[in-house]
Amino acid sequence: MQRDTNQCIYRQLYKRLKSDMLASKYESHEKLPSKRNMAKHMNVSVNSVKAAYEQLLAEGYIYTEERKGYFVEPLDKLIINPEAQNTIASYKSAAEIDYDYSFSHMSTDISEFPIDIWTKLTKRVFQDYDHYLSSIPNVKGPIELRQSIAKLVSYQRGIQCHPEQIIIGSGTNTLLMKLIQLMSENVKITVENPGYSRFRTILQQTQTQMVPVSLDNKGISIEEIKKVQPDAIIVTPSHQFPMGTIMPVSRRISLLNWASKTHSYIIEDDYDSEFKYETDNIPSLFSFDKNERVIYLGTFSKTLMPALRISYMILPAKLVRKFEVQNQSTIPDFSILNALTLNLLIKEGHYEKYLKRMHQLYGKKRACLIEELQMTFGNNIDIKDTQAGLHFIIEVVSPYTYEEIEARAKEFKLELYTINRFNVKALQNNSERKTLIIGFSKIEQQQIPEAVQRLKKVIIDPSGTI
Ligand SMILES: Cc1ncc(COP(=O)(O)O)c(C=O)c1O
Repeated sequence: MQRDTNQCIYRQLYKRLKSDMLASKYESHEKLPSKRNMAKHMNVSVNSVKAAYEQLLAEGYIYTEERKGYFVEPLDKLIINPEAQNTIASYKSAAEIDYDYSFSHMSTDISEFPIDIWTKLTKRVFQDYDHYLSSIPNVKGPIELRQSIAKLVSYQRGIQCHPEQIIIGSGTNTLLMKLIQLMSENVKITVENPGYSRFRTILQQTQTQMVPVSLDNKGISIEEIKKVQPDAIIVTPSHQFPMGTIMPVSRRISLLNWASKTHSYIIEDDYDSEFKYETDNIPSLFSFDKNERVIYLGTFSKTLMPALRISYMILPAKLVRKFEVQNQSTIPDFSILNALTLNLLIKEGHYEKYLKRMHQLYGKKRACLIEELQMTFGNNIDIKDTQAGLHFIIEVVSPYTYEEIEARAKEFKLELYTINRFNVKALQNNSERKTLIIGFSKIEQQQIPEAVQRLKKVIIDPSGTI
């Protein structure tokens, strides 16, 4: 046998015998030479042959019969489809654009994230919570984090709940899937239009009946909801996504009354309520609910970072037992290590401090961006300046269609989203006013003037209609 100095002898012999067997060079049930004969024939030690035979035996290529020796296991020829051979080589993933500036509403600024504190707290989790880390965790997440969240939502969102009502998940998206499983079959769910497109995708993927309902100046239209008669609605009352409306108390009460009269559920997606500028935090819909009709979705994707993948849902007490029974053999889909670190971050006051710092930082970026937009676009811009969240809406005059604006933004390396991404049906481009979603979390403050100039290039005809 030809020797390969980088591989042990037994491995070389094992590979050679294996490929000969796969190539049908051996008959089924053919007896292999004894270890001694094989060793002589291959000019290797008996121990090497023994190890090679043992490996072939363990993988099922050969079998033994007592005092008779080793025999070749019958093997079907493996079907090889030549077309299937090169698919990965020819696969091209969608090219990621290296943007110069971003007006994405999905990102957060992590430049001030307390990395050292997070690392220290993670170390402490290893020391103090090894029992959690080394076993299969509770599907609802560690009770310590659920207790911390119960306190957090009590003073931030006016929510009084028991930690047992809280379920941690790897994102509001995955929690929504769990929620759908919890509801009866053939459930009809209403979503806001325009609204969060990822939720629509989940409803489509789970084959849930979805009925979009349009908005008026107070948020989702209650009149339309009454016509549609859904079993549940998903709403963003603190800061309608993407239009930014803060739902007034009159509409909140109408929704709650509709839900209690019809025994329907309101799924409150409270994705960025922590950020309010120049007003206090507005209490959640859940905190108004006296009839167990609201299911609350909260997330750390905006306050910390989307990559953490920790979100939570608060169930009305009557759904908790059902959830536990339905999920008794489910293993959590998020990192318990991160969940326990997050618990310490909240418990020891670092989270609140960080939130205050980020609030100031985002407030400054937002004010600076609004000023720059007004200076640059003058009368050709209408800024729908809701004092909340990490994005706002602008209407600008542009000769381009939405598709053209999206394509031009890519060409100019500017990350930018138009209202078309959030509408159930793409808008007709008759009007010269175009609605864009402007996120201000990712952009650095000193980049704002250049980024706004880039935006001007994208949306305005170079021949200069402005
Ligand atoms: C409308 C809306 N809901 C919810 C979320 C949070 O999603 P997740 O918790 O899955 O990160 C986001 C995040 O961008 C959002 O924009």
